[in-house]
Amino acid sequence: MTQTAEATHPAPTAVPAPPLLSVNNIEVVYDDVILVLRGLSLEVPRGSIVALLGANGAGKSTTLKAISGLLKTEDGEVTRGEIIFDGERINGIDPDKIVRHGIFQVMEGRRIIADMTSLENLRLGAFTRSDGEVNADIDMVFNYFPRLKERTGLAGYLSGGEQQMLAIGRALMARPKMILMDEPSMGLSPLLVKEVFAIIKEINRDLGVTILLVEQNARAALSVASHGYIMEQGKVVLDGSADELRDNEDVKEFYLGGAGDQRKSFKNLKSFKRRKRWL
Ligand SMILES: Nc1ncnc2c1ncn2[C@@H]1O[C@H](COP(=O)(O)OP(=O)(O)O)[C@@H](O)[C@H]1O
Ligand SMILES: [Mg+2]
Repeated sequence: MTQTAEATHPAPTAVPAPPLLSVNNIEVVYDDVILVLRGLSLEVPRGSIVALLGANGAGKSTTLKAISGLLKTEDGEVTRGEIIFDGERINGIDPDKIVRHGIFQVMEGRRIIADMTSLENLRLGAFTRSDGEVNADIDMVFNYFPRLKERTGLAGYLSGGEQQMLAIGRALMARPKMILMDEPSMGLSPLLVKEVFAIIKEINRDLGVTILLVEQNARAALSVASHGYIMEQGKVVLDGSADELRDNEDVKEFYLGGAGDQRKSFKNLKSFKRRKRWL
């Protein structure tokens, strides 16, 4: 026997799994004229948490709404490029159909229904489902967020943190493959931010739900994400692993505090170099 095992059975070449979501070079226009996204691309691997970071007005929420189809409700349109989810092109599809494909967006500012109870809000999240496990999933959500179970009154009386938890719980009720979260840290105390992000991490780990996390709070987002994209003026200007981004001097200066109003733009940086890790 002179032949090695490798010679008879060559090791399979590792083919990278296709990302669950891939946004390819999209342009988004509001009201037929206002160009907000200008060739934006990003990828979210299955089972991962990816952060999309950037200052106010960069186009983060627009990106999420392009993916979830909610742009339509604001007279916005994807005019170029494509969005591929789980192997299918989804741009142009109605938002309720996109929920059925397995994407659920947690809107900025929570948007829970104030004059319904937590329980009723959770049931609404399950609107696409006809299986008999809705009650079991309500128990699961209460398990993640025990406080919601104690508060039986109208959701409008919940604290900001509790409303954020309810919004995330409602998303879970759809049993999505992917949750798009728009600034879950907004308006929460640092302690609550920690708590909510720990639960986001847990949900990702336990349930395998893929998460695209939009944040202005780069520090919190990079503490749970494996990869991050930074966007400015409708485009991605930098991307990399969460560790790379945390160690990047420019990211530290602009997005991890310290610079305050002095914040400059990546656009003007000589050191700027786009890294396309997954392309
Ligand atoms: N419905 C809309 N109609 C017109 N312009 C909009 C609309 N929504 C957002 N914009 C504009 O698009 C840009 C990006 O907004 P947005 O996606 O909300 O950014 P971010 O979430 O990063 O703060 C902003 O200049 C904003 O004024
Ligand atoms: Mg926003």
